[in-house]
Amino acid sequence: MRTPLIAGNWKLFKTLAEATALVDELAPLISAVDDVEVVVAPVFTAISAVAKAAEKTVIKVAAQDCYWEEEGAFTGEVSPKLLKDAGCSHVIIGHSERRQYFGETEETVNRKTKAALKAGLVVLLCVGETLAERESNATFSVIKTQVSGGLAGIPASDLAHVVIAYEPVWAIGTGKTASDAQAQEVHAFIRSLVAELYSSSEADALRILYGGSVKPENVKGLMSQADIDGALVGGASLKAESFAGIVRFKG
Ligand code: G3H
Repeated sequence: MRTPLIAGNWKLFKTLAEATALVDELAPLISAVDDVEVVVAPVFTAISAVAKAAEKTVIKVAAQDCYWEEEGAFTGEVSPKLLKDAGCSHVIIGHSERRQYFGETEETVNRKTKAALKAGLVVLLCVGETLAERESNATFSVIKTQVSGGLAGIPASDLAHVVIAYEPVWAIGTGKTASDAQAQEVHAFIRSLVAELYSSSEADALRILYGGSVKPENVKGLMSQADIDGALVGGASLKAESFAGIVRFKG
C-alpha cells in the first residue's frame, strides 16, 4: 500500500556534465520499474540541468537542503520556492551531515520543513543516532526528539508530503549497514511514534526510508522488513549501475 521510494543523495559530488550523464545512464536502466518512486538529489548548481535531463524519465529531483524564508536579504541561501522553480519536487532536510557540520538544530529543521511543505515540496526528513548515542542506549530518545521536533506544528493534512529517513550516523559512508532487524526496530518505533503524534492511519500511510551504506547486495533484506519503505542512498547512488540495482530491488 505504501509505494517504495528510493532516493539518491549525491552530496557534494558531480559536475554539471557528470550529473546529467548519470541521469542519461540511469534512466534506461530503470525504465521498466513502474512501482517504485525514484528521486535524485544533486548539488544546488546542478538541479535545473538534472531536472531537464530527467524530464521524460521517471526520475524526480530533490535538493539537499533549503532555507525557510521565501526571499530577502539572506546571502547564500536558497528558498523552497526557488527550488521548485528550478525543477525540484522533493527536498532533504535535517541530514546528519547538516546537523553535524552546519549547526542544524531541531528548530531549524522544523522551520525548513514547514517552509518546504508550504511551497509544495515533499520533505525527506532525516533522523538518526550517533554511535555514542546507540552505545549509551539513547537511540529511541534521540529519534523521538528528532521526529517530534521535525514534525512540531505540522498538521496531519501535510503528513502525506513528508517522508522520514532513518539514517544511523554510524552507518553512513562507513560500509556498516544496520542489520535488517536493527533498522526494522527503529522504523517500527518511528511509526508508533507518528501514530501517537497523529493517528494510526497517518502512521500507516507514512513512508520511512532507511539510509546508511545501502547497496544492491543488502537492499533486498532491508526492503523485506515490514516498516522499511525505501532507501536514502549516498555512495551507491553515484554510479548508475549500483543505484539501478537498488531501484530494481524486487529483482
Ligand atoms: O543520504 C545518504 C546517506 O547519508 C547514506 O550515505 O549510502 O554513503 O552510507 P551512504
